[in-house]
Amino acid sequence: MRQEWLFNYDWLYTPQQVPLDAPDSAFSSVILPHTNIELPYHNFDNSEYQFISTYRKRFTLPKPLEGRRVQLQFDGAMLVSNVYLNGRQIGVNAGGYTPFTFDITDYVYPESENILQIHLDSTERQDVPPFGFVVDYLTFGGIYRDVFLRYVEPVYVSMTHVQTPGSAEHMQTAPTLRVDLWLENFTNKPVTYAARVIVRPVQFPQTDFMTLTAPLTIPAGRSQHTLELSATEGARLWSLDSPALYTAEITLLHDETALDLLTTRFGFREIAFKANDGFYLNGQRLKLMGLNRHQTFAYMGAAAPKRLQRRDADIVKFELGCNIVRTSHYPQSPYFLERCDEIGLLVLEEIPGWQHIGDDDWKAISLRDVRAMIERDRNHPSIILWGVRINESWDDDVFYTRTNALAHELDATRPTTGIRFFPSSNMLEDVFGYNDFSNTVIEPEHQPHLVTEFNGHMFPTKTFDGEERKIEHARRHAFIQDRQMGMRNVLGAIGWCAFDYNTHREFGSGDRICYHGVMDMFRLPKWAAYVYASQQSPRQRIVLEAATHWTMGDRSGGGNDPLMVLGNVDEIEVFYGPEKLGRFLPDRETYPNLPHPPFNVVGMSMTMIWGQSFGDLRIVGYFNGEAVIEKRLSKDGVPARLELVADFDELQADGMDMTAVTVRFVDSFGNTLPYAMSPVTFALQGDARFIGENPLTPPGGQAAVYVRAGVTAGVVTLTAHAGRLTAQATITLV
Ligand code: GAL
Repeated sequence: MRQEWLFNYDWLYTPQQVPLDAPDSAFSSVILPHTNIELPYHNFDNSEYQFISTYRKRFTLPKPLEGRRVQLQFDGAMLVSNVYLNGRQIGVNAGGYTPFTFDITDYVYPESENILQIHLDSTERQDVPPFGFVVDYLTFGGIYRDVFLRYVEPVYVSMTHVQTPGSAEHMQTAPTLRVDLWLENFTNKPVTYAARVIVRPVQFPQTDFMTLTAPLTIPAGRSQHTLELSATEGARLWSLDSPALYTAEITLLHDETALDLLTTRFGFREIAFKANDGFYLNGQRLKLMGLNRHQTFAYMGAAAPKRLQRRDADIVKFELGCNIVRTSHYPQSPYFLERCDEIGLLVLEEIPGWQHIGDDDWKAISLRDVRAMIERDRNHPSIILWGVRINESWDDDVFYTRTNALAHELDATRPTTGIRFFPSSNMLEDVFGYNDFSNTVIEPEHQPHLVTEFNGHMFPTKTFDGEERKIEHARRHAFIQDRQMGMRNVLGAIGWCAFDYNTHREFGSGDRICYHGVMDMFRLPKWAAYVYASQQSPRQRIVLEAATHWTMGDRSGGGNDPLMVLGNVDEIEVFYGPEKLGRFLPDRETYPNLPHPPFNVVGMSMTMIWGQSFGDLRIVGYFNGEAVIEKRLSKDGVPARLELVADFDELQADGMDMTAVTVRFVDSFGNTLPYAMSPVTFALQGDARFIGENPLTPPGGQAAVYVRAGVTAGVVTLTAHAGRLTAQATITLV
């Protein structure tokens, strides 16, 4: 029977390449996911993580093999892994974004200690995508995703693809399922076994929704088998509001003995991209509105564990109100995608690359990436498009004909797209992806047309910028989303981007950050974030935010007029000190297409006279005639508190789990004070590790540090001091 162990513990690490016989004393102990170096959040250079490091792990097999095969699976290591077991090279993997597996049966000592060693090259190898030219993001280094050890029988299921054919209506009445299985048979002779498939709703795991047992004649080597299932009862659809998931439990049976058991999760949903019309989910037209996501974090590069991956999906869906995310510019963590499935967030996933196409060997790796991405991810209902063109590369029809053909062969259920920077590019995909930096939305030349980026470098904006710039940043996002929503021949728009990210000196603001996010790299909002957040239905969440520092003189000329308010209420009432300024409706004239346009509050200039009293701002939001939310900003400008909040106050004591702890200088109503940039000193008590700068000066008055759980249950306390201000956060490890 299959057995699997998480193989993240008890690794040895050294930030250099050492020979296979180097003593263990040359290493330190680490737990994966691991970054090859922790860095400041900015003001460092990519050369600091570009080196070859060595990972070593001593292990004995956890159980007797009893004739089974043993495999090692790496979910992601940046960038080229040269893997040795017991002094013998077992393989090399080039590419940092897709998993790779080695069958180590012929290398492993079944009863004594084994030594696994990886020489991990994290330099920008020109022969491996995305490299060969400059790249506007940092790849970082390390074995930054999970590793697994797995036993399988000599005949086992290596892959599955679950397809839900037909229309949404069909799925809701008489659903059918096509399950493709790939089997590996190492016995050198054909065998006849059976496959049993049981489909159950995740919500009702006791209910068998579909079942099938079918004989399988399995030739030696690799073979593919197709099973068809059906149900007499309708399936619950996977939708954005109600993302119903099902599991398919696949058992390989020899007589009554189970040889293998594999469970995969999927959803019943229908997607369609229609020329000059739009995207349809389950037969209903849906305007796509989203943001691009890079997978990197402050300090730890890409080595963010499961909880942070899941949290990012939650932020994009619930805090930013998006219905789609693009995994720019590579396949991202399985945990991120699993969460997108669970919460109903659509995904455009693409292969690694950025503007550059290399030689034939490079292209071979890129084609391998297409395969690895689709084979890993084709059961995710959240994924609606495969990006099979190197982001913003020139046309190469021969190459892209092959990436498209391969994608279609591996997955006939999803369309392909390719992301361009020139509208006349040859359309080889099913959907034309266009990075539209025209500061408007161009009339499409190809159909169907999806805006895959906008804004970004056209208007970099920092949390510590003056308020005029931050307002303009928000306005630009609102303008583009409004315009695309009014164009039936545009599927939607995915803005650049969700979060600020570290980059090379050739890009960004020089301190190695591209300040292109609607949130900063700590996942804390700029005002543009509220443009997205406020498009959610008020029935889901009421949003009301004011795009102002609420000061007398931050703007050129002073004052706060006009005031941009972002919210999804019907009407607002604005008070300035004790005075009522009036009631305002959303600005539908400027933004006729947004579900919830910004409010444009005017008439305050007369009250902005120096020397006169300056009161607090108070805004009351009305929904269905009732006051449902109130937003207040203090006139004071000086921090009332230092706020320290752990995103999660409970972590697993597993050595890997991690939470962000945000630190903010706030006014008496809890609003961040963007110019309160004083050094904060942290102290951590308990079995946990502090990840971040210490002291740290929060840019724009807000930042995050991270706490990584140790392995003993108990309480962890993080204390922060900044001058006269102190704050504390408590996290329980269970
Ligand atoms: C695009 C590119 C992105 C990012 C963005 C900045 O051209 O695809 O990766 O660099 O510009 O606006």
